Amino acid sequence: MNPGGINGRGTVYLVGAGPGAPDLLTLRAAELLKRADIVFHDALVHPETLALAVNAEKVAVGKRCGRHSTAQRFINKRLVDAARIHRVVVRLKGGDPLLFGRAQEEIDALQAAGIPCEIVPGITAALAVAAELKVPLTQRGVARNVVLTTPRVGQDERGSDWAAGIHAGNTAVVYMGAGMAAAVAKELRARGVPADTPVAVVENASLPSRSDRWCTVGTLAETVAAAGPVAGPALIVIGEVLRRAQQCATFTPAGAQNFHEAAVQAGR
Ligand SMILES: C[S@@+](CC[C@H](N)C(=O)[O-])C[C@H]1O[C@@H](n2cnc3c(N)ncnc32)[C@H](O)[C@@H]1O
Repeated sequence: MNPGGINGRGTVYLVGAGPGAPDLLTLRAAELLKRADIVFHDALVHPETLALAVNAEKVAVGKRCGRHSTAQRFINKRLVDAARIHRVVVRLKGGDPLLFGRAQEEIDALQAAGIPCEIVPGITAALAVAAELKVPLTQRGVARNVVLTTPRVGQDERGSDWAAGIHAGNTAVVYMGAGMAAAVAKELRARGVPADTPVAVVENASLPSRSDRWCTVGTLAETVAAAGPVAGPALIVIGEVLRRAQQCATFTPAGAQNFHEAAVQAGR
């Protein structure tokens, strides 16, 4: 144990672990993990990332989709308690801690208890997916803005108009939506997004197990249903920015073994 800092209190660092691949961690995050006395981590954090915390007690506090408010209150309390006995407390979250990570509840609890708190950004899943597909989410003359959203509503949360910002001229990235693809597609159509708008559903981005499903807003529901349940974390990316990549992905020249090879042969 490494006794707490000023006034017996340590600092809690909300740290982004990135999308999955352990080498997509920031240097600051890696350094903090090395110094950590205790690490509270999400379910999606890679074991090699956790292994960097050589001296730390590791506590799994994973709750998929952030749905359990009781569990969240318990995590808040554990962070406060840990900061009273340890100097470096790391709360390690998948992707970026400030996107769909329930960070506000943790920040509020720490501030209420007078515990210093710092944030270390991570690569959010949307940016990992864009990089892997080689698709800029903004493109001159195609899309000037990007909507990051989720249709998922927590038990203790009022429903919100999750699709309000989505329209035909922008790019949308939907987190925690692959399990409700039919509802997502229906809402997009109701918003006037054309049925032929390209869509990519990308699972396990940045990991060797990554898989991509290409379709359109009109075929999204049946494409996801036909492929069976989405097992890993997945994003739905929607927008015209995908069109060239989609043409490469769905046109496989003779001899091309996969998307990347097809893209090279198609001259991308
Ligand atoms: C609770 S949210 C956390 C998001 C995280 N804070 C971020 O910035 O990426 C979990 C959701 O993020 C998305 N996600 C996380 N990692 C992913 C990955 N490697 N590939 C695809 N989607 C991912 C999925 O939609 C998953 O259900």
